[in-house]
Amino acid sequence: MPSFALCKFPCLLAKMEAHNILCSLLCCFLLSILSGQQVVQGSSAQHHHHHHHHRTHRHLFNFRPTKLFVFGDSYADTGNRHSEAKSWKFPYGITFPGKPAGRFSDGRVLTDYVAKFVGLKSPIPYKWRKLGVKYLKNGMNFAYGGTGVFDTVVFGPNMTTQIEFFQHLIKDNVFTATDLVSSVALVSLAGNDYSAYSAGNGSSQDLQSFINSVVNQLTVNLKVIHGLGVKKVAVTALQPLGCLPQSTATSSFRQCNGSQNSFVNVHNLLLKQVVAKLNNETKDDSAFVILDLYASFMSVFENKGDHPASTEFVNPLKPCCMGVSSEYFCGSEDEKGAKKYTICEDPESAFFWDTVHPTQEGWRAVYSALQPTLEQL
Ligand SMILES: *[C@@H]1O[C@H](CO)[C@@H](O)[C@H](O)[C@H]1NC(C)=O
Ligand SMILES: *[C@@H]1O[C@H](CO)[C@@H](O)[C@H](O)[C@H]1NC(C)=O
Ligand SMILES: *[C@@H]1O[C@H](CO)[C@@H](O)[C@H](O)[C@H]1NC(C)=O
Ligand SMILES: *[C@@H]1O[C@H](CO)[C@@H](O)[C@H](O)[C@H]1NC(C)=O
Repeated sequence: MPSFALCKFPCLLAKMEAHNILCSLLCCFLLSILSGQQVVQGSSAQHHHHHHHHRTHRHLFNFRPTKLFVFGDSYADTGNRHSEAKSWKFPYGITFPGKPAGRFSDGRVLTDYVAKFVGLKSPIPYKWRKLGVKYLKNGMNFAYGGTGVFDTVVFGPNMTTQIEFFQHLIKDNVFTATDLVSSVALVSLAGNDYSAYSAGNGSSQDLQSFINSVVNQLTVNLKVIHGLGVKKVAVTALQPLGCLPQSTATSSFRQCNGSQNSFVNVHNLLLKQVVAKLNNETKDDSAFVILDLYASFMSVFENKGDHPASTEFVNPLKPCCMGVSSEYFCGSEDEKGAKKYTICEDPESAFFWDTVHPTQEGWRAVYSALQPTLEQL
């Protein structure tokens, strides 16, 4: 079988050159004899590839990333939402930094892991942009929990507005062209667009056209970010919304909602197509990279164990922090200030923190599953 694959191309050449079928048959025959040697060459090529896999992240970029700019929702926000948001209330942040600090998790989130991969500290939230120049050296995080590509049910700047914040800082020379040519952007959102769509009674017949409009607007925005001079733009494929505890609660956290996951797949397929198109239209043919949250969440759920240092969660779909009944949620208190939620014994044993967000350990496992894609950055 490998010999067939190997001979196909030279035979085609022979056909074109000589128009001689006999020649091409002979050529195939000779090549299949030689294929033993070819296989050896093939394995040395693999070996070579293996070495590439172990390059340090600095080399993987062909440039040294000096800044990370982040746009998105609660998967990426590291503190932009106002202090009334639950990300600023107990028990959020109990694992890292040890107290509520604006992240929608018990600890670190996607942004922190991507920053680590890029070789930078997690960039400061936009909210703290006035703290001083030395705080801006790792870039900036414009992500706000609850937001979307379009306006969502939660108040907060949509993606277009987040990019406008960035554009104003560039205009004011807070970030210069030199900063941008060696920078990476992380874009992670769209889940809230679909929540808002179903909360607003959007019909399932119109869902396809809504998906198209979300991906179209996202594409426009990705182009704008790259057009500002950002060298690499990493955008997340949507997570399996049907596997979030808010969807699996009806099955006692046993089963993902297949119909929700199938529209997520439509979104992701469309996103892959537009990203391929963007790369084809761009001088650097790998300027845009997809971080596949769908595949990485699924591979963690399936406990494939094929990622080094991956965690096996006992029931990956069950959240650590839950309201005591359906009218309460993680962090709920009654009028007297009494806790109306429970926290699992060990947050490190849970993939999900609350009904929507992974724990720090969950994100760490996702990050480990994302490694091969991150290396394309
Ligand atoms: C984003 O928000 C701005 C400000 O509220 C609004 O003018 C704009 O239409 C929104 N853009 C999208 C794509 O929803
Ligand atoms: C959606 O439907 C529910 C129940 O029919 C209704 O109470 C609610 O106001 C509707 N929401 C919107 C945004 O139309
Ligand atoms: C799956 O999600 C759809 C759309 O949100 C909903 O109508 C359906 O009832 C859910 N299925 C299950 C089994 O929960
Ligand atoms: C890339 O663009 C060229 C022309 O600009 C086009 O011919 C080709 O089909 C495109 N390839 C893909 C994969 O879109």
